[in-house]
Amino acid sequence: MGVQGRQIVDIAPRIDAAAHHEIDATGRLAAPPFVDPHFHMDATLSLGNPRLNVSGTLLEGIALWGELKPLLTPEAVMERALRYCDLAVSQGLLSIRSHVDVCDDNLTAVEALIEVRKQVAPYIDLQLVAFPQDGLYRSATAEANLLRALDMGVDVVGGIPHFERTMEDGARSVKRLCQIAAERDLMLDLHCDESDDPMSRHVETLAAESTRLGIGARVVASHVTAMHSYDNYYATKLIPLIAESGLSVVPNPLINITLQGRSDTYPRRRGLTRVPELRAAGVNVAFGQDCTMDPWYSLGSADMLEVAHMGVHAVPMTSREAMAWTFTSVTENGARAMGLPDPTLRVGGPANLVILQARDPIEAVRLKATRLAVIKHGKVLSRTAPREAALSLVGRPTTLDPADYAPVSSPTSN
Ligand code: FE2
Repeated sequence: MGVQGRQIVDIAPRIDAAAHHEIDATGRLAAPPFVDPHFHMDATLSLGNPRLNVSGTLLEGIALWGELKPLLTPEAVMERALRYCDLAVSQGLLSIRSHVDVCDDNLTAVEALIEVRKQVAPYIDLQLVAFPQDGLYRSATAEANLLRALDMGVDVVGGIPHFERTMEDGARSVKRLCQIAAERDLMLDLHCDESDDPMSRHVETLAAESTRLGIGARVVASHVTAMHSYDNYYATKLIPLIAESGLSVVPNPLINITLQGRSDTYPRRRGLTRVPELRAAGVNVAFGQDCTMDPWYSLGSADMLEVAHMGVHAVPMTSREAMAWTFTSVTENGARAMGLPDPTLRVGGPANLVILQARDPIEAVRLKATRLAVIKHGKVLSRTAPREAALSLVGRPTTLDPADYAPVSSPTSN
C-alpha cells in the first residue's frame, strides 16, 4: 500500500517507489481505524468518584452521576477526556461519538468537551451529542439547556425517552427531539428503550417519526435493549418499521450485558437487542463502547475489539460470517451511523488505517489484536511492539477460504 500525503495512492502486490517511511505489514491485517458511535466522555475515568455503584444497575449509575455532576470542573473533565483520547489513539480508535450531559445549568461538561473536540481534531473525529440525562421533560431546564448546547456547537441531538416519567412523556420527547433535529438539520441519537421493560416501545415512535420527517439516515437508536424482551410477534412488526425508516441501531454489548437483567432471578435475561434479526432486515447495526471506568461500568479500555468480542458472546453470533461482521460493526458500520465518509481502504481513499497483529478480522477479534501501527492522514500516530508469543498465539498459518467472509443470504444463521 502506497501512501502520499493524506491519501492511499496505490494498493498492489509490489510497488516500486522510494518510500520516505516504510512499515512491514507482511501477513498483517490492514483495516480502517476503529469507530465508537456511543460513548460518555464527560464521565469516563471517574470511577469511584464520589463512590462506587453498589447495585450495578443503570438507575444507580444515573443517581451516582447526579452526585458527581455538581462537583465537576472543566479542568477535571478535560483532563480525564484527553487521557481517554490518548488511550483511544493507541487502540486505533479514531472516531468517537460522545454524549455529553446537558442537565447541568452551567453546562460545565459541554464547554469542556467542546474544547477537547478542538484539541483532538487533528487525530480524532469527536462528535458530541446534547444528552438530557435526567429526561427532556423530567428535568425542568433540560430542553432549554439542550438548545443552548446545540447553539454552542454540539453536533447531535440526544434524548432518553424511557427515563421520562410516563410512556406518554417519553413518546412526546421523541417527537420533540425529532422536530429539533429536522428543523436544525442535525443528526439525532437517542438512548432508546435501555430497559428490560417489554412495554418500553419508544423505538417504534422514533422509527415512525424518522420516516415521516425523512431524517432516518441521520438517526441512531442506541441500546434498544427492551427489544430483547419484546413479544416475538411485536418484534416481527417493529423491525420492518425500523428498516423502513433507515435509522441505525447501536447496541453496547459490554454495558448491556452487565446492566440489564438485574431485576431478574433465574433465568436471567441477556441485555442485548436482536442483532441478527435487525441485520437480516437490512438495518445498519454498529456496536459501541458506551462506558469506561465510570458510574455505570468499572472496566473498559477503549478497545473496540473487546466490544466486538463481547458482541459475539452476548448475542450470541458465532458463524464465521457473523464473527467477521462484528469487525465491520466496529469500523465501517460505526462510521455510517456517525454520518462519516466511507472509511474503507482503497486507492484514492483517506490514508487512515490500523495495522493489526492478526491475519484476518476473526483473528483480530479473537486475539483483541495488538495495534502495530495507527495511521491518520498518512502520519503514524502510534506504534506498539508485536506480542512476542505471536506465533504460538496465532498457530500455524492456514489457508482461509474467502467464502468464509462472503455475506450469506440469511445472517440469522448465527
Ligand atoms: Fe449511553
